[in-house]
Amino acid sequence: MTESFYTIPGAPHLALLSDLHNRDYKPAIKSVQRRKPGIICVTGDIIYGSAPEGDVSPLVAQPNALALLRACAAIAPTYVSLGNHEWMLDQQDLVSMRATGAVVLDNSWEERDGLVIGGLTSGYVMRQRRRLADMPAEELAKRRYHDRGGIASMLKTPAELLLERVPDDDWLIPFAATPGYHILLSHHPEYRRLVPKGIELMLSGHTHGGQWRFFGRGAYAPGQGVWPKLTKGVYDGRLVVSAGLSNTAPVPRFFNPTEVVYVRG
Ligand SMILES: [Fe+2]
Repeated sequence: MTESFYTIPGAPHLALLSDLHNRDYKPAIKSVQRRKPGIICVTGDIIYGSAPEGDVSPLVAQPNALALLRACAAIAPTYVSLGNHEWMLDQQDLVSMRATGAVVLDNSWEERDGLVIGGLTSGYVMRQRRRLADMPAEELAKRRYHDRGGIASMLKTPAELLLERVPDDDWLIPFAATPGYHILLSHHPEYRRLVPKGIELMLSGHTHGGQWRFFGRGAYAPGQGVWPKLTKGVYDGRLVVSAGLSNTAPVPRFFNPTEVVYVRG
């Protein structure tokens, strides 16, 4: 694991952690303890998998996820947004996440010392909520962790999936209008097109650095395809993308170490 350092004028000293996917959280925590950022931002995908396993919360089945949040919150104020894998979580799981001391930003924002910190929930999560909202109550009660929507949805065409996986961006307007320095946690960097100009800093992950990096470019990223544009680093002076904390692919990462990212003003 490496550490990456970026300077963005006006930004507070912060750590960006992304895409733990239930892997070992301790190397990242050691880094954060050493660097002492003022706040810690976790941009989602703390869990892994395309469907829940058994009749148990993924947060129970995958204990590193909550352990990461607990360890972060013990070091500095910690803010978390929801990534695509978090579609498997429900409201009770968000309560468990908040019990670690971390602030879960689920299409919402909080103010702190002149900062306005928001979290844009993945469109995958929103799609699942829409599906569950349409489901009869008795069906819902049976399905808590047995829903196989993630796999069934693969039978749809990419265009259909894109239309379904739409984030809720309405709240970004009042968020941007709230006075202060705005930090938006958005697991997906490709949501950049939705982000109003008044937001000074957007933090993302999801790409795993493009898995293989050649001449500073990633080879593939979910949501962006082959030779993606946004994989790791700073874009337009306001979007910071982390290459993430884990490898989940069946192939190794090439020239693409996992990383904790630090931003300073
Ligand atoms: Fe992701």
